[in-house]
Amino acid sequence: MKTNRVLIIDFGGQYNQLIARRVRECGVYSQLKSFDGLQLSEVEEFGPSGIIFTGGPRSVYGEGAPTVPDGIFRLGVPILGICYGAQLMAHKLGGVIESAPTSEYGRTEVVIDDRKGLLQAAEPVNVCWMSHTDYISRPPEGFTVTAHTDDCPVAGMEDPRRKLYAVQFHPEVDHTEHGSEFLRRFVLDICGCRQDWKMDSFAEDQIALIREKVGGGKVLLALSGGVDSSVAAALLSRAIGTQLTCVFVDHGLLRKNEAQQVADIFGPAGQFDLNFILVDAAQRYYQKLAGVTEPEAKRKVIGEEFIRVFEEEAKKIGRVEYLAQGTIYPDVIESGLGSSAVIKSHHNVGGLPDHVDFREIIEPLRMLFKDEVRQLGRELGLPEELVSRQPFPGPGLGVRIIGEVTEEKVRVVQDADAIYREEIAAAGLAGSISQYFAALTNMQTVGVMGDFRTYDYAIALRAVKTSDFMTATAAEIPWDVLQKVCTRIVNEVDHVNRVFYDLTSKPPGTVELE
Ligand code: XMP
Repeated sequence: MKTNRVLIIDFGGQYNQLIARRVRECGVYSQLKSFDGLQLSEVEEFGPSGIIFTGGPRSVYGEGAPTVPDGIFRLGVPILGICYGAQLMAHKLGGVIESAPTSEYGRTEVVIDDRKGLLQAAEPVNVCWMSHTDYISRPPEGFTVTAHTDDCPVAGMEDPRRKLYAVQFHPEVDHTEHGSEFLRRFVLDICGCRQDWKMDSFAEDQIALIREKVGGGKVLLALSGGVDSSVAAALLSRAIGTQLTCVFVDHGLLRKNEAQQVADIFGPAGQFDLNFILVDAAQRYYQKLAGVTEPEAKRKVIGEEFIRVFEEEAKKIGRVEYLAQGTIYPDVIESGLGSSAVIKSHHNVGGLPDHVDFREIIEPLRMLFKDEVRQLGRELGLPEELVSRQPFPGPGLGVRIIGEVTEEKVRVVQDADAIYREEIAAAGLAGSISQYFAALTNMQTVGVMGDFRTYDYAIALRAVKTSDFMTATAAEIPWDVLQKVCTRIVNEVDHVNRVFYDLTSKPPGTVELE
């Protein structure tokens, strides 16, 4: 029996989760399954309304090349092949694949020959994203060519009678013009899926999976107060209640009132059923950081101390079977972990203990992109302030205080940062800047206040726009807003007599100052 969902057969391409995301954006449930060991009976049991073959790094003629179960084309289910998936479809059905005389990578102009089927939304010459060295030189019988390029005779082919569609380019990436519409056309019009999948279905599915996996076991989560670990905590709490213990380490390098806000949401007075342990490790951190000035040395101290504190707490709880993490899909890509790679401690909670005694890691957000995580957080009832929070580095204000960290400097930067954030929000700019914060330069300058000479700290304001944090430009904040922030910081924060605005892009700068 057909259910309302799309099966994505994974051949190891780098954009595969993005395909799943695009299908979710159509309001349709999708699931990735590796080609490896996939049986026809499993496909039938899944009962897909449509199947997508992903891209992948291999050649169909290579030894042990990824393939699909025989008989899949006879199921009568619409199939879309993308890149390697397109070549595999052609190969299995009697077409010819060859090594392309000219490989195509990146932006490519694709001439559309037929817009009746999948490519209905295309421009006559549609800009697409390509990444291939083999190509289909002759499509199988029954297929018509729907698109080509100067270097690729079959950039698209289809056999509508058998509901088989293929594109050599990647419709799932942003750079492909109308790419989402091609996928939408496949999922909604060709497969006839209903749009009945929402983020709350994701939550329900995950809750069921977590319950099944964990049984009566205990789960430990290092809660940082950031969006990802908070959403993971909310989801796990809904699934297993007090079998979950969240450890929140206040390292004294958090933003103003942040520890309190996290405690209000996840502590005993909050809305979630879980065990919450707040560890006030601030003094311990300040002692460890005394005299440490070199940025990497500071990061190391902060990371190591985190592990130590976390381990101490874990020991008190006793054996836990599972360690949960708020790893999201971009973290998985950055760490170079494929779906079948060995899961190991991840960096996004500031480094994790290797020798805490646990059996397995649970990462319920592994499939999601950042904006989807925020959406899930809203579904789970987390306050908007937390859900839309900008990124905050694991080492916290430690990398926003240049040179030695002291309790006094932390207070100065917390107060200045709180004013900055307040004014950015009041000016309605918060949503248009990717990340903004105040940092404390390791510099004192001469000033005059009242009739007195001052010799006080200089604050640096930073604000950047970026889509991936790999490159960034300084945000253009209106002059009057900057002036107001400057005046308020100098007037309201003790020991600050000067404010700078950082105009540096990344590269050559980085987002954080250390
Ligand atoms: P940079 O300074 O490297 O920052 O340009 C890029 C993004 O990463 C964040 N960042 C960190 N996040 N642990 C984290 O979890 C870290 O050690 C760390 N260092 C930088 C930074 O806030 C920005 O969003």
